[in-house]
Amino acid sequence: VIWLTGLSGSGKSTIAMEVEQYLFRRGFEVYVLDGDNLRHGLNKDLGFSPKDRAENIRRAGEVAHLFAQAGMIVITSFISPYRADRDKVRAMGPERFHEVYVEADVDTCIKRDPKGLYARAIKGEIPEFTGISAPYEAPNDPELLINTAKRDLGSCVETLLEHIGENFLDGGLSLRRAAG
Ligand SMILES: Nc1ncnc2c1ncn2[C@@H]1O[C@H](COP(=O)(O)OP(=O)(O)OP(=O)(O)O)[C@@H](O)[C@H]1O
Ligand SMILES: [Mg+2]
Repeated sequence: VIWLTGLSGSGKSTIAMEVEQYLFRRGFEVYVLDGDNLRHGLNKDLGFSPKDRAENIRRAGEVAHLFAQAGMIVITSFISPYRADRDKVRAMGPERFHEVYVEADVDTCIKRDPKGLYARAIKGEIPEFTGISAPYEAPNDPELLINTAKRDLGSCVETLLEHIGENFLDGGLSLRRAAG
């Protein structure tokens, strides 16, 4: 399980989708579990209180580990703001869990605001919004850190692919920069 954590707009979904496509095209069994998708279905009964966020992440973690046990490369993209919740997911299967901190400072995320959520949160229209009115607890010791404010998307994707190749795939991945 490659567990991406970071602020809204830090780039979790964007990186996860690019990496998924790359691996899929090369014949690997890979699956992305995305916070937005789970919140439409499996977790649609949950809100954004600390208790509901914990349950959101617990269920996501259980599902992620099930897919991984079935032999798939699982990449997850959840804000997962609480350290304790992420640690519990790790404890479900520590030997196959890597935490990846997708880091971007909140000002960068506010500037990107791909879903317009920060604008609404700043106006007070969304309560308990991570980075604005709810906390984000950065990982203390992630297996990988990717700073998306300092590097372009292609370089971030490559870094994650290399990490997956070294840690999750027998024989690694021989990365060739995509020509265009
Ligand atoms: N180096 C980079 N890596 C990833 N995304 C980047 C990078 N530079 C700019 N971006 C842009 O930042 C935005 C990130 O949005 P994205 O939806 O991936 O964030 P997210 O972390 O999944 O947020 P959420 O938690 O709300 O789902 C996209 O518009 C993407 O194009
Ligand atoms: Mg996302």
